[in-house]
Amino acid sequence: MNDTRERKRSHIEICTNRDVRFRKSTLLEEVELIHCALPECDLEDVSLATTFLDRPLGAPFFIGAMTGGTGDGGAFNMTLAEGAARYNIGMCLGSIRPALLDSSCIPEFQVKQVSKDLLVFANIGANQLNSFSPDQILDLSAELADGLMVHLNAGMELIQPGGDVRFSGQIDAIARLVERASGHPIIVKETGMGLSLRDGVRLKRAGVTAVETAGAGGTSWVGVETERATGINRAVGKVLWDFGIPTAASIHWMNELGFETIGSGGVYNALDAARAIRLGAQAVAMARPFLLAYEQERRHGVEQLIEELVVGLKYVMLCVGAVDMAQLKNVPCIVGNKLQRFFEIDS
Ligand SMILES: Cc1cc2nc3c(=O)[nH]c(=O)nc-3n(C[C@H](O)[C@H](O)[C@H](O)COP(=O)(O)O)c2cc1C
Repeated sequence: MNDTRERKRSHIEICTNRDVRFRKSTLLEEVELIHCALPECDLEDVSLATTFLDRPLGAPFFIGAMTGGTGDGGAFNMTLAEGAARYNIGMCLGSIRPALLDSSCIPEFQVKQVSKDLLVFANIGANQLNSFSPDQILDLSAELADGLMVHLNAGMELIQPGGDVRFSGQIDAIARLVERASGHPIIVKETGMGLSLRDGVRLKRAGVTAVETAGAGGTSWVGVETERATGINRAVGKVLWDFGIPTAASIHWMNELGFETIGSGGVYNALDAARAIRLGAQAVAMARPFLLAYEQERRHGVEQLIEELVVGLKYVMLCVGAVDMAQLKNVPCIVGNKLQRFFEIDS
């Protein structure tokens, strides 16, 4: 078994069996949505319909980028895709690097086979933009998906045994990819430490228009790699486990900068999804909860989680008197002191 495949399998094993969450929160709990006792609408009036990058979605949810290329990732990806297609939500694939290295992995990523209408984003690490040509990456992405997510994961690579710690030139590589992509959307995402205002400004200059925050408060990828590391990296990993921008702050900043934003990183229930949308997210993504649901109950677990989110968001919207996404983005709310302090800094 090659190194990448072995590492991805160990990520799944660790994310399934160990507590790799941040110990600090997303700060979404500091967004207090104001209850409306007279919503003056019926539950059936509440619509979750939305768009992301001009593509329609039945509800503002994505299954977050996880896997593929483990040798047995196909069943996982197809089950996630069936759930996503059934509820008309979006799906993000894990890194397509294994498929670029070995075309026999490609079938694990072919989730469009489940439904050609499923909104799917492929995924690649920013570091890989220098290992493959833009055309190699974009051609495979266009074959598999409706757009490409480029992930940033410096903290994770630092702690990862044998991680790739060359981060120079990433923003130029992203700018080149965006220019070359003409029409194939490029979304830039973090993997658990969040995107800062300064990152956002650089990404704007590089021509990026859509981001996924993957802020602190959900899965700690430094935590996952700390579980795999030994020696100095294990010791430093324990120190950096909780380092990162709380998801709520990152969503606010990306919205202020005018990005079309997927809020993620510990957005694990309908109330947090509503709070993320109130802060300006166009949709939310969650990753590890879908892995846990799949490991416990396969298809039933995945569908139950989506249903809980969909029904739950409708209930939250009724409780705040919002019948659609436009109204939810504008419902009254109060922001707590800690989150407010993030809102006040400039780049
Ligand atoms: C098992 C697993 C594999 C992941 N693989 C990828 C990946 O290949 N590419 C990527 O951008 N993010 C990857 N992620 C990170 C997630 O997409 C997400 O950004 C992060 O876990 C925070 O979200 P969460 O708190 O909902 O888990 C992975 C997450 C999990 C749980």
